[in-house]
Amino acid sequence: MRTELCFYVNGMPHRVAGRDAFLTLSDYLRRNQNLTGTKIVCSEGDCGACSVLVGRIHDGVLHYAAVDSCIQFLYQVDGAHVVTVEGLKKNGALHPVQQAMIDCHGSQCGFCTPGFVTTMASLFENGGTRREEPLTSAELRDALSGNLCRCTGYVQIIEAGCSIDPASVPRMKNVFDEKALVADLAERVREEVRIEARDAEGHDLVVYLPLSWEAAARFKAESEETVVIAGATDIGVQRNKGRVTPRRILSLARVEGDDTISVADGLLTIGARTVWSAVERAMRDLIPDYYNILLRFGGPQIRNAGTVGGNLVNASPIADSIPFHFVTETELELISPSGTRRVPIEKFYLGYKKLDLKQDELLARVVARLPGDGEILKLYKVSKRKNLDISTFTAAIAVQLDGSTVASARIAYGGVGPVVLRLPQTEAFLAGKPFTEETMRAAGRTARGEITPITDVRGSAAYRSQLAENILVRFYHDVAAQAAAV
Ligand SMILES: Cc1cc2nc3c(=O)[nH]c(=O)nc-3n(C[C@H](O)[C@H](O)[C@H](O)COP(=O)(O)OP(=O)(O)OC[C@H]3O[C@@H](n4cnc5c(N)ncnc54)[C@H](O)[C@@H]3O)c2cc1C
Ligand code: FES
Ligand code: FES
Repeated sequence: MRTELCFYVNGMPHRVAGRDAFLTLSDYLRRNQNLTGTKIVCSEGDCGACSVLVGRIHDGVLHYAAVDSCIQFLYQVDGAHVVTVEGLKKNGALHPVQQAMIDCHGSQCGFCTPGFVTTMASLFENGGTRREEPLTSAELRDALSGNLCRCTGYVQIIEAGCSIDPASVPRMKNVFDEKALVADLAERVREEVRIEARDAEGHDLVVYLPLSWEAAARFKAESEETVVIAGATDIGVQRNKGRVTPRRILSLARVEGDDTISVADGLLTIGARTVWSAVERAMRDLIPDYYNILLRFGGPQIRNAGTVGGNLVNASPIADSIPFHFVTETELELISPSGTRRVPIEKFYLGYKKLDLKQDELLARVVARLPGDGEILKLYKVSKRKNLDISTFTAAIAVQLDGSTVASARIAYGGVGPVVLRLPQTEAFLAGKPFTEETMRAAGRTARGEITPITDVRGSAAYRSQLAENILVRFYHDVAAQAAAV
């Protein structure tokens, strides 16, 4: 059992024990290491000023992704290589992204610039293989949707990204001695870690990084105080806002397996530790509607850290993944020291943030039914802004047509009650009816009667009721337009 964190920053080994192991990554970099190029603005994952690259070993090489360091805890990067804006220079020369930002006037006050630079630099790594084509404007707009600039404006920043010749960008493996890093880190990630310390007020702190679900579940079962941390994109924000102070921490960062996606026998199995960017890549061809929703799930830094399990267990009624899992009749596999059990997702949510999850249980994987032949699935997210915004209303609609008649329908709405809801009366109303705009309009009126939305900062109850009604008509027109285009 190791009692210190081991990771690398800009090619240099770091060993951290005691109270510092509980810092956020951004505080460690700025305060302890004086790497002040990493900026902190919002402290809640919204602006990307704190973006750094985190390289983790997959198939013997380091794969780098940009994450928001303000909502990553230091123990989450155990076994990883962190590259900050200071680490991008090679032999003292500016990185091509830095040079392009200067040449294209991509920076004014400069506070957001290191975040843009690190995020843009990550795009040239391309999951371990060299990128050959220049970045496109459309690609940059998606890739930089987690980075905010308040003064320069985005045109120059996009121009900077498009102007970079990929051949001029040094690969991380050539900037740093990848072989040596991988050889060392590969040893480290095989060790369990447990660090105990005391905070400034004298409270005991403990963080445990087990290698197996069984060990993780045993640790969780020992105390109700245990806080489970997967990607920390929810918990990290709550901690920075002072809503929670995790002191007995179970980090799932190193649990082996269950960060994968597989398809067999019409079932889609996703490990609870899988990050959203991996799901996004897998859904592109498999379920394009899910892919399109995931493109609007936070920004890339959030999707590179946030996990499927975190979204489902956090249990927000406007969590973007839950309606999809309702209509695909997903089962959740829960693991405890005494074994596993499966719960249909609709039975998992007992009330607002109340779950059928026992003290000794963790969510290990989810098993969804893939849409059947001829089944039409559409997902909707309504939010005030298109990118990086929390949903006001979400919907998943799956309809099986028999010719021009609705054979069956499954509908789930989010943001219209304390939990995501299935709409059984609307589903029953639709069965056997002709698939027409009139039918869907009438179904919308039934849907309105099945929900109990509230008014909050994101929208009024009346607005949400109207959305609940209208979305079924929108579904009809989307399907009709798609059919007309074939
Ligand atoms: C800027 C920003 C934008 C966001 N945008 C969106 C968005 O567009 N749509 C959306 O739906 N969400 C969004 N989120 C919320 C968040 O990113 C997701 O809910 C994410 O999937 C959470 O995963 P995580 O691994 O980071 O969870 P964590 O923060 O690590 O954990 C969340 C909760 O789940 C528990 N938990 C985690 N994994 C397990 C497990 N395997 N077993 C048991 N308990 C577990 C934790 O104890 C905690 O209570 C956003 C967050 C931020 C900061
Ligand atoms: S400081 Fe804004 S995302 Fe971290
Ligand atoms: S250059 Fe000032 S915020 Fe972007």
